[in-house]
Amino acid sequence: MILVTGGAGFIGSNFVLDWLAQSDEPVINLDALTYAGNLENLTDLSGDPRHLFIHGDIGNFDLVAKLLADQKPRAVINFAAESHVDRSIHGPEDFIQTNIVGTFHLLEAVRAYWSDLAGEAKANFRFLHVSTDEVYGSLEKDDPAFRETSRYEPNSPYSASKAASDHLVRAYHHTYGLPVLTTNCSNNYGPCHFPEKLIPLVIHNALAGKPLPIYGDGQQIRDWLYVKDHCSAIRRVLEAGRVGETYNIGGWNEKSNLEVVHTLCTILDELSPRGDGKPYEEQITYVKDRPGHDRRYAIDASKIERELGWRPAETFDTGIRKTVRWYLDNQAWVSNVTSGAYRQWLDKNYEARA
Ligand code: NAD
Ligand code: DAU
Repeated sequence: MILVTGGAGFIGSNFVLDWLAQSDEPVINLDALTYAGNLENLTDLSGDPRHLFIHGDIGNFDLVAKLLADQKPRAVINFAAESHVDRSIHGPEDFIQTNIVGTFHLLEAVRAYWSDLAGEAKANFRFLHVSTDEVYGSLEKDDPAFRETSRYEPNSPYSASKAASDHLVRAYHHTYGLPVLTTNCSNNYGPCHFPEKLIPLVIHNALAGKPLPIYGDGQQIRDWLYVKDHCSAIRRVLEAGRVGETYNIGGWNEKSNLEVVHTLCTILDELSPRGDGKPYEEQITYVKDRPGHDRRYAIDASKIERELGWRPAETFDTGIRKTVRWYLDNQAWVSNVTSGAYRQWLDKNYEARA
């Protein structure tokens, strides 16, 4: 079996669902269920004996050590993190706690477990750390895309905390020989994306008749990858990645934020037109920029293609259409996650930007 951390979040839950759709190898899912964790993402697995959910923190050494000793996974895949840049600007402490201190305790528990393994179990064990392209900092318009050898230049408390966790993972390999793999992926989108991130927020606000907030001039560029493609890349790295290596994962889909929002508006105009017949674009509103906003991310994903034969299956056009369709078909999921604390977040993040 494998142990997944953060498997009730956006990417982790997609990963668990895809894993069990393709294999009968059980998954232990350790998640602290922060505001971003949602067991509703995993309803399709209720009663499925291949999925064991454990409510807990990666920073709890005793809990993780006991889980490893009892369940004896052949691999740990670490998705658990605080993941939202804007939240890291409002309050960095949780990011330091989970992404750095939490990863450290998790690594300690995994190291102790792995050290006691023997023979093939020890040789085949893997710790796969899921990280981000944001650790490389920001690109100028004509700079080449990030490679695995690009310098780490994180600019936000979020990316700095992820960079620190990547360094710890690297150090546990070089110092203790822990068989690690690290992936650095670009922006994901798709089902179960919490509606505080750009794409699900815009879909949600558009349908609710609210402003579609564009930070600054909207010309910042992100490299978008459909979440299921990220999951298939992680499965491939786990299967065949070279121990100690890092792999960049990206969609070869650079788009400005404004382009993304216009695309969403056009698809919504077609699939769920406004009652007054006007285009959703009319709801676009420019708001105060994100402090320290990275201008451009772009991933050179040629290493994973060359070494492991992975390429994304979706284009942006196919993936974004599936995504909009998913949100239209899952309005109950959206209304469950956009009550209570979600509203407080909107007040905190958007009131001062008006
Ligand atoms: P998310 O915020 O949707 O989910 C994070 C999950 O981790 C939640 O279920 C949460 O409850 C859980 N969690 C948080 N703190 C925890 C702790 N201390 N112990 C156990 N569980 C904890 O995040 P996501 O977008 O699914 O991202 C998953 C991972 O992928 C993160 O490590 C993130 O840095 C990385 N990543 C995300 C993207 C993206 O575009 N979303 C891109 C590249 C890399
Ligand atoms: O690059 C990978 C990263 O992508 C991941 O590591 C992070 O976990 C993930 O959250 C994402 O970070 P971003 O900051 O790029 O994603 P976000 O959806 O928050 O913002 C995308 C872009 O849209 C960014 O340039 C900021 C802008 N934006 C965002 C929001 C929420 C807006 O213009 N308006 C908004 O209201």
